Amino acid sequence: MCGIVGYIGANEIKSTLIEGLRDLEYRGYDSAGIAILEDNSIKSFKAVGKLINLEKRTKEFQSKGFGLGIGHTRWATHGKPTELNAHPHLGKFSYVVHNGIIENYQELKQSLQSNGIKFLSQTDTEVIVHLFEKNYKEFNDPMIAFEKTVQSLKGAYAILLISKVDPQKIYFAKSGSPMIVGTNKNNEIFFGSSDAVLIGKANEVIYLEDEEYGYASSEGIKLFKDQKEIGLNKKPLVGDKLSAQKGGYRFFMEKEIYEQSEVVVDTILGRVLDDKIKFDELDISFLDDIEDIKICACGTSYHAGLSGTYLFERVAKIRCDIEIASEFRYKEPLLNKNTLFIVITQSGETADTLEALKMAKRAGLKTLAICNVDNSSIVRLADYTLLTRAGIEKGVASTKAFATQSMVLWMLALYIASHKNTISKELLKSEIEAIRHIPSVLVVNDKLHEKIKRLSKRYLHGHGFFFIGRDIFFPLALEGALKLKEISYLHAEGYPAGEMKHGPIALADSELFTIALMPKTLLYDKIKSNVEELSARDATILAISPIEFELADDFIKTNYSNHPMSEFFEMMVITQLLALEISVRLDNDVDMPRNLAKSVTVE
Ligand code: AGP
Repeated sequence: MCGIVGYIGANEIKSTLIEGLRDLEYRGYDSAGIAILEDNSIKSFKAVGKLINLEKRTKEFQSKGFGLGIGHTRWATHGKPTELNAHPHLGKFSYVVHNGIIENYQELKQSLQSNGIKFLSQTDTEVIVHLFEKNYKEFNDPMIAFEKTVQSLKGAYAILLISKVDPQKIYFAKSGSPMIVGTNKNNEIFFGSSDAVLIGKANEVIYLEDEEYGYASSEGIKLFKDQKEIGLNKKPLVGDKLSAQKGGYRFFMEKEIYEQSEVVVDTILGRVLDDKIKFDELDISFLDDIEDIKICACGTSYHAGLSGTYLFERVAKIRCDIEIASEFRYKEPLLNKNTLFIVITQSGETADTLEALKMAKRAGLKTLAICNVDNSSIVRLADYTLLTRAGIEKGVASTKAFATQSMVLWMLALYIASHKNTISKELLKSEIEAIRHIPSVLVVNDKLHEKIKRLSKRYLHGHGFFFIGRDIFFPLALEGALKLKEISYLHAEGYPAGEMKHGPIALADSELFTIALMPKTLLYDKIKSNVEELSARDATILAISPIEFELADDFIKTNYSNHPMSEFFEMMVITQLLALEISVRLDNDVDMPRNLAKSVTVE
């Protein structure tokens, strides 16, 4: 999704802004731009494509001393990715950058145009700067003009605006899209759509809440809500730049696959004791009057949630169903106050999931977010939150977030089972032992990675892939297929293995690649016969199993394990590496695949 940066200070402003935009590249974009205001003159530069094009465009420019600037990476929503549509957008004497969607922009645009104002772009954003200048003419006060402008906007926005009429200030406003303000001891001020921009620069941050707005200058930050000034809720900013860089791997995605072992240690830290599961974030009363669970998510997070439904019913003996958030929003669902509504999201900003959460809250349900980004919009809205602690995930194709989400769901199922007395103390202890074994399961074996690198050359064409599995390996099959689709652009489907004979097997031939997840600990005989049916029709089979399978064209042997979740995590790493290596061979942009964004903050 779009990324926003802002800066006030004496550092060279162009490079500060572009460096900040580079920290946001992982969000996905198709154009970028900056605007710099110093000595009461504004310079703006924009370019389509990657940041390198913007750097070329700004090569001759250097800011001289103290000043301010704003920058933006755009993921097109209204209007094609062109230079005209790139932000910042110009009025006569002001520039604006915006992330989100102004839902009433057409009526605002028509009203402005009827006042003779000319628009250059097709974007919704451009209405903001023209509205500001119209209000300034009327009220002759930039703060009032900005306040009036923001009040007339409907939809989601994170806005930065600079203007010659107030050359010392950056005006900002936030509702629905993330915006963070950071300060440091050199009296510099930074703005960013995520922490990544501020790490290593700011030491205190303010996570803006919805409907908050204000301005920043070298004198400090003024924050308002409902036209009243409010205090600054400053938090220390921890973390370091290095953890957000690639650390020697070829791609963020590769680094994040290798990180899964260590981040899952963080995920279970303090939560898995010798004889119980503990969540400091939850008081056990939160389960009072809960009769069933509804999970709601998108994409990879949905796949983690789907595996969770099996665990909640099997282990915690509590009814659990799951919804795709974009469907849930418009299906007029029948909701029951005794349902625990769980949203799963890496970014905490996914528009569909956020709206689903708002629906559940309006219906009076108790809500729990399983999320990777503290202080994100969804975390701030949910009644309870369990953080996955996966650290910054920059690869657009989610990996460690999925691993930690799956782990949190497993722990939560055990936590609820203990609370409902549906699990014996002995079984709980053996589950805890299995959980503690998972970090070692997630350590990437170099020989295995080498084997997958070699194997991947055989899977670069064909008329498609089926990933098949049963029970919790069906969501894993969906996830494996999504990983491959996202970064290789080859067609892949995840399918319940038992369903192949109800139609899809018609596709079976030597050009159909079937990735079969064949765990020993769960329904092995069933999945084996499904794969034999496919092999008999000459489908090309890549079997992943601890048990040799002679009908496979390719075979990846996994470790013998006595727990399905251990097999789940081991096969997860294999499907992630397979997608990665196929994508590398196809020379795709593994970390920023085409058409995708890391956080889909629009519907
Ligand atoms: C995962 O690889 C995809 N990038 C995408 O499906 C993602 O999981 C989905 O957009 C949900 O994002 P969230 O977890 O941040 O809500």
